[in-house]
Amino acid sequence: MRYGYFDNDKCEYVIERVDTPMSWTNYIGTEGLVGVLNQTAGGYLFYKRAEHHRITRFRGNAVPTDRPGHYVYLRDDETGDYWSISWQPTAKPVECYKARHGLSYSVFSCEYSGIYAEQTLFIPRGADVELWDVKIENRSGRPRKISVFSYAELSWHQINGDNKNFQSTLYCAGASYKDGVIEQELHYEENSFQFFTADFDPDGFEIERERFTGIWRSENNPEAVEKGVLNGRAAWQGGNQCTALHKRFALDSGQQTRLCFMLGQGGREAGLAIRKQFACTLARDEALAALAAFWREKQSHLQINTPNANMNTMLNIWTLYQSEINVMFSRFASFIEVGGRTGLGYRDTSQDAMCVIPSNPQKCHERLIQLLKALVSEGYGLHLFEPEWFEEKPVSTFKSPTIVPTPERTSFVHGIEDACSDDALWLVSSITEYIRETGDATFAEMILPYADAEAAPDSVYEHCKKILRFSQRMVGSHGICQGLKADWNDCLNLGGGESAMVSYLFLWALDNFIKLAEFLGKSEDAAHFKKVHEDTAKVCRETLWDGKWYLRGFTKNGRPIGTDADKEGKVHLESNTWAVIAGGDGPEKGKKAMDSVEEYLGTPYGLMLNAPAYTVIDDDVGFVTRVYPGLKENGAIFSHPNPWAWVAESLLGRGDRAMNLYDRLCPAAWNDQCDLRKAEPYSTCQFITGKDHPAFGEARHPFMTGSGGWSYFAATQYILGIRPEFDSLTVDPCIPPEWEGFSAVRRFRGAEYKITVKNPKNVSKGVREVLVNGEKCDRIPIMKVGESCNVEVILG
Ligand code: NOJ
Repeated sequence: MRYGYFDNDKCEYVIERVDTPMSWTNYIGTEGLVGVLNQTAGGYLFYKRAEHHRITRFRGNAVPTDRPGHYVYLRDDETGDYWSISWQPTAKPVECYKARHGLSYSVFSCEYSGIYAEQTLFIPRGADVELWDVKIENRSGRPRKISVFSYAELSWHQINGDNKNFQSTLYCAGASYKDGVIEQELHYEENSFQFFTADFDPDGFEIERERFTGIWRSENNPEAVEKGVLNGRAAWQGGNQCTALHKRFALDSGQQTRLCFMLGQGGREAGLAIRKQFACTLARDEALAALAAFWREKQSHLQINTPNANMNTMLNIWTLYQSEINVMFSRFASFIEVGGRTGLGYRDTSQDAMCVIPSNPQKCHERLIQLLKALVSEGYGLHLFEPEWFEEKPVSTFKSPTIVPTPERTSFVHGIEDACSDDALWLVSSITEYIRETGDATFAEMILPYADAEAAPDSVYEHCKKILRFSQRMVGSHGICQGLKADWNDCLNLGGGESAMVSYLFLWALDNFIKLAEFLGKSEDAAHFKKVHEDTAKVCRETLWDGKWYLRGFTKNGRPIGTDADKEGKVHLESNTWAVIAGGDGPEKGKKAMDSVEEYLGTPYGLMLNAPAYTVIDDDVGFVTRVYPGLKENGAIFSHPNPWAWVAESLLGRGDRAMNLYDRLCPAAWNDQCDLRKAEPYSTCQFITGKDHPAFGEARHPFMTGSGGWSYFAATQYILGIRPEFDSLTVDPCIPPEWEGFSAVRRFRGAEYKITVKNPKNVSKGVREVLVNGEKCDRIPIMKVGESCNVEVILG
């Protein structure tokens, strides 16, 4: 069953049945102010940090789901009947409703009782305000008297305070109404205000939650809306604050009206200024158009046209969008993680920042620098950190009067016992990728401090060497990299045991670094690390092959993990894909390993992470053995490593297999089976429940997952084969042989490449000829800024 469809012209997903099997998320905002919202306008707003600067309140993991939200109620003032534009919270017949999720905006619409209404939520670029632009049309064929009410619940800034110790919320925040603006004041904090206003002079207002809903009621049936009157007190200290404004109006048959609510960061003065700025509908239309232009610019860095329509939809619009969201907001603001932790995960951010450099070089650059500053001079990254710990002028944070000691800076720097073996390795490849994409070799020379303040600052290039030396040093008894607290798999906790995946990741990082060193003319380093690469590859070759696939590693007692003899956790996806990506062991073994992956891990929805799932607890292997079989890391179809398999199959030249795996995981391909998938078909989810769980096939945890970035990176760079190099652009696809070709437009270093790939001999891989503007070339040169060229790539 399907709940909606893709409208690619508008870059929207249209939800025709809003009672989806799970809440379907969208993110609004592109800068400081961020909204996490579902298709019923449920969700929350925060400013910069979901943990420390909440604006609207959210009751996580409750029923009804995703409450409260940013709601607009309409009321028929002649009958007293009332409803909400976004279906919830009043939940009138679902057939009356639709929702559209677009790029950084959502539109909720309804036609009920002869009144059509639309509520568009978005955050204009350059302004710290969420606009609720409302359009109403009387389609009933008779004059009507209608009231409109807004409602959102405001939050105490610190989520822990707001959720656990209500003293701050109840006694230390207040609100007032004046000049058309509701101002919430967080009295403990210096200059801390939120505002809510509208483009009209309201007929009534309410600033106190219980006076709006009634104490024994909810947003479903608010007493104030039922009565049709808001009779708020002009100021109130303490209690729970809300943002309700009321306007009555008469609409002739066929008449339309438009109004706007505005919820933002700052006090009454800021509210008045914003009110002035967005009072005019033209200003709102222009702001929405500017948002669309912002996304069009990003999309223009790569647009593809292939025979695979779902792939076109995902890569041109939604996968890029998801990947950008991860880089912009990190991974901790969703409906699963509602802001209980904040900051950056080292490995997650390192990977996210590698995948959308073409469309967001500035943000990726900022992230890389934050990561480099959070590198300990021993060569490992701080697993979870706040970038501001390492800023020269830390942004002031809230000091609780209930005495929470302020930690010393040195206490942020955790020791080796909490280090993950993969964290910083990703960064080496991300830095290399950044220089490949931008051509900015000076980035390697940039001097930056380490997290441990006593270490002397060093260049980005030297930071990379520290990372490589750490992995070279931290090996176990077989010579394979130690697993430490965990490797990419949070739940594989090997300690001094060894991780095959990390050794392969090390080889990949080395390979990228060697190419960088050669490009920078550092031949001694290149030669030195080539030797390290050779030695590591040799140990891997001699140690990790199990006969039909590659091992996952060794426990600290030397017991191999992922062998044919194992009853559980026999085959693991990470080590097999990375063995192929790292190369060095020949295509025959690679093919055999990937065949085993298909045989043991293959499902209609993609590849499981390991199989059979663990049922027997084994703390030598790690927490994975305590996870329910078929969920998350224990045998789910974990999405993030699936694109590694697309890369592996592409490197092996098996384009039909790579594409088949792509299709199985592709969210859009499941649009007509959302009763099974349950999650939104426009976002790759963290995992799909695996075979060993009764909910096999259900997708969980949308948006905030590395599978967004990796899907984008793997599909564009390996299946379609469009890759930046230090001194050229490569087009080396690996596609299904039945494809006659495809086309793409890629912007690279300020020039435009109009690429046509032709496949006259129906091969999967192998470039026979490259023509640039009709002339044969060995490689595609870097054009001058502003130039445009035609690139023809003939396979076979
Ligand atoms: C989610 C975590 O954010 C990520 O760091 C990890 O790699 C995956 N889970 C797999 O464990």
